[in-house]
Order: sequence, then structure tokens, then C-alpha cells
Amino acid sequence: MARVLANKRVVVGVTGGIAAYKTVELVRRLIQGGAIVDVVMTEAATAFVGSLTFQAITRRPVQVTTVGVWEGEQAGHVTLGAAADVMIIAPATADALAKLAHGLADDAVTLTALACPAPLIVAPAMDQYMYLHPATQENLERLRRRGVTVIGPHRGPLASGMVGEGRMAEPEELFGAVRAVLGRAGPLAGCRVVVTAGPTREAIDPVRFLSNHSSGKMGYALAEVARDRGAGTTLISGPTCLPAPFGVRFVAVESAAEMAAAVEEAISDADVLVMCAAVADFRPRQVSAEKIKKRTASLLLELEPTPDILASVARPGLLKVGFAAETERLLEHGHEKLVQKGIDLLVINDARRTMGAETARVTLLRRGREPEGLPDLPKEEVAERIWDAIQELLAERERVAQG
Ligand code: C5P
Repeated sequence: MARVLANKRVVVGVTGGIAAYKTVELVRRLIQGGAIVDVVMTEAATAFVGSLTFQAITRRPVQVTTVGVWEGEQAGHVTLGAAADVMIIAPATADALAKLAHGLADDAVTLTALACPAPLIVAPAMDQYMYLHPATQENLERLRRRGVTVIGPHRGPLASGMVGEGRMAEPEELFGAVRAVLGRAGPLAGCRVVVTAGPTREAIDPVRFLSNHSSGKMGYALAEVARDRGAGTTLISGPTCLPAPFGVRFVAVESAAEMAAAVEEAISDADVLVMCAAVADFRPRQVSAEKIKKRTASLLLELEPTPDILASVARPGLLKVGFAAETERLLEHGHEKLVQKGIDLLVINDARRTMGAETARVTLLRRGREPEGLPDLPKEEVAERIWDAIQELLAERERVAQG
């Protein structure tokens, strides 16, 4: 579940391109995320994916013709568009883009788009010559000027066998785009936040490093939820297997020192810093310039502490959120950290069961308040709860500032 999607009406328009098979996955993700999804298709699209596929996933009628139902609340061809919170057309063919740019409406998709006052997202997909043609480029420019969000296309292998620009964006990116567009005017609009995520790698020699089991899932979920609530979000991440979230400024780093420098730069105008990264506490005192030989009889690594990023950043007005991945005496160690590092909110979890897992059971610790234990929840939901707590702290600050 993503709260920004819960009970939102998303209309997905499908036009005739081979990338339509990826739209099935997008629709599945949107439904899993909690949205109510209606699919409209052109006749041509049904040659690539049957309307029954979408009907089975959405459990709702799929509209393929321009003739709508006039009955009760159903006002024929304008019903879907009028009720939508957002519409996304994926894939959007060159022909569909041309029609949209000029307000034509002779199929179910462009008709619904014309009758839709909600924000529109298009995901162009076509052969590269069609994409690069001045007519298509002009149409896209016109749509952008009108406030339409254009995602992709990307470079890569095309159905024609060529490699070029024209591949539709992946479902994951489009899913992020729908969330971002829905959340634009959310409760954190105008707020700038920096989130760190993942492990760091501390080099031993050119091929070896010290690291930890952090998957980055919690930090990425935190960045996505911040974006969903309208925040200008920077995600500073150590090496993970996760794709950079859509609509987030992404900074890739490796070592604790690189992360410290990136945080320092990013927080210059930030309101909130969420240090979710599992930063290495120690690094080899000396990094060998050459690969250390296996023949060495025994190897002793001398380690030195890394700079504590969270403790050292002290910008007035910056709200600091820390994570404590403890394995013992969770609360006691948590309290110490809250004070030592000047943290506003500390999220304590049991490192042994959280790292790499899909769910987390955390306790929220704030100064002058009883600890708040949350149940075992998916990391996406934990991220929502953490932002609820941060928003509360921001609101408190606002009240104090206004006297
Ligand atoms: O003291 P400990 O490492 O357990 O504190 C964890 C918190 O401090 C996390 O929020 C982590 O991101 C942050 N941290 C840091 N710089 C370090 C080590 C940890 O900012 N060198």
C-alpha cells in the first residue's frame, strides 16, 4: 500500500504499441498500491493485449469504444475522465500524442483524456524515427507546455531490432510518476528533505571492502513517501540493488566519507535530514594501493572510526532523524543516542531482524515523550508512520515559532 494511492481513481489509457504488455504490470502495481484503476484502450491496443487481461486484474469493465453507458451516475463517454484523480497513457504512440496535442478524440483513450480535468502523464513508446520526427517532437513540446508530464522514452533495444530512443519507461518508473504527480500538492509541498540509505563500503584494497547487510529498502521507502507528500527530496545512497526512485534527486556514494560530503552539501537548504543509511562505524586506517596477496601468512587490519555524520551536522532549524540498529538493550541505547547526537526523532529497531527484511518493528523515540512502539509492518507503512511523526514535529516547531 502507498497512502498517496489509497482510493485514488487512476485512469490508464493504453494505445497500440508492443510496450502495452508492460502496462499490465503497471496496472497490477497501482492496484496493489491501493488505487481504483479503470483501463481504456484503443482498438489497436487490443491487438497487443486483450481487454480481458486488464478486466481480470482490475475487476472493472474496460472501455474500448467511444460509446459510453448512460445510466444513473454514468454519463456516457465523459464519466471516467471527469472522476479521475490522474490519467496515465502508457504506451502513448506517436499517433496518440498527435491527437492529444491537437485535441482530437476519436478513440476511447484520447476521448477520455480530453474529458479529463485531472493531471495527465504520457509514456511515449515508438520506433526511434517516429520519436525523433519533428512532428512528434513538436507535439510533445506542446503537451509539456500544457502541463502534461512526459516520462521517457528511454534508449535501448526497440521492437524494430534497432537500438535507439523509443523504449517505454519501465512500470516501476511509471508507478513512481503516478505517485509523484498525485502527491505534488501534499502536506510536505515546499519542504526540502534529505534521506540517506543503504550501506557504505570502506575499501581495504582495490578489490575488497568492509560493509554490512543493509538493503536500502527502508531508506528508499522513506524517500518515496517524502516525494509522495510533495517534498523536494534528495536521496543519498550507498550501493544497493534498488532502482533510483522517480522524482527524487539521487546521489550515489560508496564510502562514509563520500556520504558525509554529499550530506553536507545537500543539507545547506534542507528542512529535514533522515539518516537511515547504515554508515560503517570503522574503516581500514590504511587502504592498500595494490591487491593484498593471498600468500600473506596472516592479515591484521587496523581500523579507525569514521566521522559520525549525524552528530556532526548542526544547522540551526534542521530537523534530524536518526536510526538506531541495536542488537541489545534497544531503548537504553536509544535514549543515549538521542541526546548525544542532538536528534529530534530516533527510530529504533532490532538490527538482527530488520536488515534486509521486508517488514520492520520499530519504536519511535522523541525527547520528553514516551517511546511509541509500532507493530511489525511492511517497510512502506513504517515509512508512512515515520513521516507522520516528522510532520507532527514540524507542525510543533511552527507553533513554537509563531509563539
Ligand atoms: O551510533 P550508531 O552508528 O548506532 O547511530 C546510528 C545513526 O547514526 C544512524 O542514523 C546512522 O545513519 C548515523 N550514523 C552517521 N554516521 C556514522 C555512523 C552512523 O550519521 N559514521
